[in-house]
Amino acid sequence: MARLEGKVAFITGGAAGIGRATAILMAREGARVAVADIDARAAEETAALAGNGAIAIRTDVTDEASVAAAIAATVRQFGALHILHNNAGGSTPQDSNVVDAPIEEFWRVIRLDLFGTFLGCRHGIPAIARSGGGAVINMTSNMALMGVPSRDCYTAAKGGVAALTRSMAVEFAPARVRVNAVAPSATMTERLKKLVQANPAVNRLAASHLLGTITPEDIASAVLYLASDESRAMTGQVMAVDSGVTIS
Ligand SMILES: NC(=O)c1ccc[n+]([C@@H]2O[C@H](COP(=O)([O-])OP(=O)(O)OC[C@H]3O[C@@H](n4cnc5c(N)ncnc54)[C@H](O)[C@@H]3O)[C@@H](O)[C@H]2O)c1
Repeated sequence: MARLEGKVAFITGGAAGIGRATAILMAREGARVAVADIDARAAEETAALAGNGAIAIRTDVTDEASVAAAIAATVRQFGALHILHNNAGGSTPQDSNVVDAPIEEFWRVIRLDLFGTFLGCRHGIPAIARSGGGAVINMTSNMALMGVPSRDCYTAAKGGVAALTRSMAVEFAPARVRVNAVAPSATMTERLKKLVQANPAVNRLAASHLLGTITPEDIASAVLYLASDESRAMTGQVMAVDSGVTIS
C-alpha cells in the first residue's frame, strides 16, 4: 500500500524547490495534497505535476486570514487534514551578522520562516486534531544546529522553529498530533544555487558535504517519513538531513 494512502497534506511554499519535490512525492504515495504558495501560477503547475487530485491555493503564510482560509478550503475539499508541512521560507544574500544585517532582513525572515510556521500550526493543528491526529513537519535548517557566521537573521528564525517544534510536540501529543522538523544543509534548489554563488560562507559550507550534494528529493524523502505512520514513535525531533555537515 502507498505510504500516505487516505491522508490529506497541506504544504506551504509547495510551488517550488523542496516543497515542490515533497508535493510530488506525497501525491505519489497516495496523499491528497494542497499546494499552498504565494505564487499562484507556480502552485498550479506543481499541483498538475503532482496529480492524484492535488489542488493549488494561493496562500501568504505571513497573513493569518490567508492561512486560516487556505486550511479551511483544504478541509472543505478533502474532508480532513492529517499532514501539515510548514515549508515556506528561506534566506537571502542580504543576511549578515547582527552588526551589519539590515534590520528589515531580520523581520522579513522572522515573519516568513518563524511567524509563518506559527500561523500554520495555529490553524493546522486544530484541523489535524479534529481529523483524528497526524503529523506536523516544520522546516528548520542546519543553521539552527551549528554556528555559521554571517547568517544571523536566518539562524534566529530557524532556531525559533526548532524550539517551537519541541514545545508544540509536548503540548499536542495528547491530541495525537506529532510535531517534528527537518534540518537540511545546503540543498540545490534554484534559489540556493544563486545564494551559494553570492555568499562565500555558504559556498564553503556547500563544498564541505561528506556525502555530496543534497537534492530537494533527498529532503522530501525525510519529510515523507515524518509524515507517515512509520515515524509514529517520533515527536519533538529535529532530523538533520545534511550530508554529514553538522557532525564534521
Ligand atoms: N534549499 C536549501 O538549501 C535549504 C536548506 C535548509 C533549509 N531550507 C528551508 O527549506 C524551505 C524551502 O526552501 P527552498 O530552498 O525549497 O525554497 P524555494 O525558494 O525554492 O521555495 C520557497 C517557496 O516558498 C514560497 N513562498 C515565499 N514566500 C511565501 C509566503 N509568504 N507564503 C507562501 N509561500 C511563500 C515561494 O513562492 C516558493 O515557492 C525553507 O524554509 C528554507 O529555509 C532550505
